Amino acid sequence: MPQPDLMDKVVALAKRRGFIFQSSEIYGGLNGAWDYGPYGAELKRNVKNAWWQSIVHFRDDMIGLDASILMHPRTWEASGHTENFADMLVECKKCNKRLRPDHIQGGKCPQCGNTTFSEPRAFNLMLKTSVGAMEDSSSVVYLRPETAQGIFVNFGNVIDSTHRKLPFGIAQIGKSFRNEITPGNFTFRTREFEQMEIEYFCRPEQAEAKYQEWIQARFNWYLDLGMKKENLKLREHAKDELAHYAAGCTDVEYQFPFGWSELEGIANRGDYDLKQHAKFSGKDLQYQDPVTNEKFFPHVVEPSGGCDRATLAFLVDAYHEETVNDAVRVVLKFHPKLAPIKVAVLPLLKKNEGIVAMAKKIKSELQKEMVCVYDDTAAIGKLYRRQDEVGTVFCVTVDVQSLEDKQVTVRNRDSMQQERIPLERLSGYLKEKLS
Ligand code: GAP
Repeated sequence: MPQPDLMDKVVALAKRRGFIFQSSEIYGGLNGAWDYGPYGAELKRNVKNAWWQSIVHFRDDMIGLDASILMHPRTWEASGHTENFADMLVECKKCNKRLRPDHIQGGKCPQCGNTTFSEPRAFNLMLKTSVGAMEDSSSVVYLRPETAQGIFVNFGNVIDSTHRKLPFGIAQIGKSFRNEITPGNFTFRTREFEQMEIEYFCRPEQAEAKYQEWIQARFNWYLDLGMKKENLKLREHAKDELAHYAAGCTDVEYQFPFGWSELEGIANRGDYDLKQHAKFSGKDLQYQDPVTNEKFFPHVVEPSGGCDRATLAFLVDAYHEETVNDAVRVVLKFHPKLAPIKVAVLPLLKKNEGIVAMAKKIKSELQKEMVCVYDDTAAIGKLYRRQDEVGTVFCVTVDVQSLEDKQVTVRNRDSMQQERIPLERLSGYLKEKLS
């Protein structure tokens, strides 16, 4: 069930607590671009780190890559983006607004109400810029619309430098740009975004099994990071949705407050991409089996997710409201791995020098092992509420008694249970609970 209220609450919280701001807001903002504030930057970084760890570090068959955003323009001819990466648009004959034909409401332009439009034309979604001192057709380059092609064009380099054997995959996280006609739903559809993409190379006869394995692996990744199962589902593309070369594609969808929408796509792409780059570059991009010397183009399974979309889904999924003592408690119940702040150290009395000194010392020790903050800018109830709203997993409170018994109170974000823990056990206790 769509829940527009929930989206409004998440957007308001994201701004109020420093997760996500409108880009260049003081100038009126820029449509389709967003800035991550202090907590959002931590959250998004944690999403990327969790992905990189599970995909690159925890698997023997994966390696990482970090390719440039600007690529040779021939790349996009080979990939088909120059010709086919387009939306059909019409232009309002009165106000010149460009819009998709399906966005015309009741035959009228939503901006000016006019009823006459140009014939539909293909509008390429790649953002253009130029390199070097001259601005002519020879200097045109594109801001990449996907990170995937950076992997394909480096396939030969990776094989030559690492001597990898099939099956293996290359993973990359990075910015992509699309001149989306209708950016919207907060950070769901933007013009600048980050992707987390994998190209998994295998023998043709392995492709179907690897495709199925990746669908499950990617679905489970979201579950393992605490996403609610009822908010996740797989959607297999119908045959007529597939590119002509693809053998299959399945989306991981999330139930956003505005409805079920794609988080990530897993595609069984055949050998199309490497063949295209071999053809356009004139380079031999075939794989040579080290035992049989047989040469062939590997097949590719491509799990391709959006980092901003995943971050938004984790944010929405974590949002929780409950009534405590007749007041609404808003808490972001992030998985500990994703929580921007793991521990907040809070002095119960900010005017007591002993308490403040002890709290600051605890924070400076703990921050060597986990992301911590110290806060003494309000009364304890307010401090707890602030930490709940940014999803801090534990609050450690230092009080007068702590000075005597060298124990502190540890408050659990989700249960609000409090426990006295001796200082010498504090770090071990927190690390165990956070792992
Ligand atoms: N290489 C394949 C590819 O790029 P895609 O379905 O166009 O496939 C993959 O994009 C993922 O990138 C999407 O599932 C989504 O998470 C993210 N993504 C795509 N366009 C986006 C946009 N305009 N804003 C935010 N994320 C986007």
